[in-house]
Amino acid sequence: QRATVLLHPDFRVGQIDRRVFGSFVEHLGRAVYTGIYEPGHETADEHGFRRDVADLTRELGVTMARYPGGNFVSNYNWEDGVGPVEERKPFIDLAWRTIEPNTIGTDEFLQWAEREGIEPMMAVNLGTRGVAAAAALVEYCNGEAGSRWADLRIANGREKPYGVRLWCLGNEMDGPWQIGHKTADEYGKLAAEAGKAMKLVDPTIELVACGSSSMQMDTFGEWERTVLEHTWDVVDHISMHAYYEELDGDRASFLGSGTAMDRFIRRVVSSADAVGARRRSDKAITISFDEWNVWYLQSRFVGEKNLPLQKDAPRIIEDVYSALDAVVVGDLLVTLLNHADRVPVACLAQLVNVIAPIMTEPDGPAWRQPTFHPFAATARLARGTALDLRVTAPTVTTKQHGDVPLVTAAATLDGTEGAVFLVNRSAEPVEVDLSHPGVALTLARGVQVTADHEAAVEGPDHAARTIAEHVAEVDAPVTAAEPGRTTLTLAPESWLA
Ligand code: AHR
Repeated sequence: QRATVLLHPDFRVGQIDRRVFGSFVEHLGRAVYTGIYEPGHETADEHGFRRDVADLTRELGVTMARYPGGNFVSNYNWEDGVGPVEERKPFIDLAWRTIEPNTIGTDEFLQWAEREGIEPMMAVNLGTRGVAAAAALVEYCNGEAGSRWADLRIANGREKPYGVRLWCLGNEMDGPWQIGHKTADEYGKLAAEAGKAMKLVDPTIELVACGSSSMQMDTFGEWERTVLEHTWDVVDHISMHAYYEELDGDRASFLGSGTAMDRFIRRVVSSADAVGARRRSDKAITISFDEWNVWYLQSRFVGEKNLPLQKDAPRIIEDVYSALDAVVVGDLLVTLLNHADRVPVACLAQLVNVIAPIMTEPDGPAWRQPTFHPFAATARLARGTALDLRVTAPTVTTKQHGDVPLVTAAATLDGTEGAVFLVNRSAEPVEVDLSHPGVALTLARGVQVTADHEAAVEGPDHAARTIAEHVAEVDAPVTAAEPGRTTLTLAPESWLA
């Protein structure tokens, strides 16, 4: 089978915003406690944060982290998580039915992010709370001395404002599972008022309105339209969330997830632009794809309703990933790069232990899942501008997404240095004819992930073995090369950068 990919330095999608390599730390299961934070762990720093996890986070190339939720934020009182730790009271987090000790709160997270060079993205509670609490949190984080909440921060030991730039106006408010779930009208009005107040506290912030929790929601499309009609003047971005999984052994549909993500992005962009057209506005609302990943949500997760009330950082949603999952994650990254003009912000959900590229054992090791590798390689190699490619490839008809191409690609250009990202979704090798006039591609050595045919098994040993067998630095599989033209052969079901 053959495919062609044409890239040209003059055909550009847009500058890559480094925030597209974001991740997510929610108070959920072991993401915070025994994830990023574990005082007493042999690698813990003087603040109680695990150095091994921080080192892997750096290696992963995460530029930004969303906090504190997720579903968690919709019943969170941020004031309970600041001030002297010994005076903080535990509460029942209704989203995950877990006793939250409030040991880690806004200051601890923001200071961890600052130490690790990660930009924070904060979410405010628009489930059980509203305008005043949201504006107060912006003042607590970003205000200068001389007003109530900024002075509280200073009294809590932090003089300098944190300068948090990105803010989510709630989380998945279209979802019936959300604490304080709302109709699009109810949410749109509240988000507009909360956003207005937050920007009056700090006009430099960027706001994200909640889009749909997935493209499968019955309200999808109409939700975006209604919410943006209410919030148009105040928000900068609309959120997207999407999780993909292999269902009933339907490997072809799973491998085509990147095409589903691509269509989802195009539909949200169209919905946003339709609102702008009706308003005769030139404003381009961009997308914060602030939750994306492979998650065995329907097939493995029992669902929030069935969760017993738990405490002490329970093991919830600790998906174990295979090399096949890693190929799909790489393909999803290709899709995000191809929309660099409209997707400046994205978060791989999540960072540690919860559907995560990094896993830990309490009092034990931290390790990389197979999905770690395509993310780390893309964050490292994708620099500068995303190019607008022309790809021709055979297609396959899938049960879930109809026709999808068997080869996908993205490319970036930084000065004269190009990087290319290629996916072969087919079970056969594919020869790719790459035309790249005027672009020097660094194709000598690449990172390759090839899918496996085994189900993932618990534990660091399995992850290490899967990675050793399926993730490798390879000599690029080039079969012919001349200036501006390269031919290479992609391994079956593989991702290559
Ligand atoms: O990332 C896990 C959960 O998925 C988040 O809390 C929620 O926003 C989404 O449904």
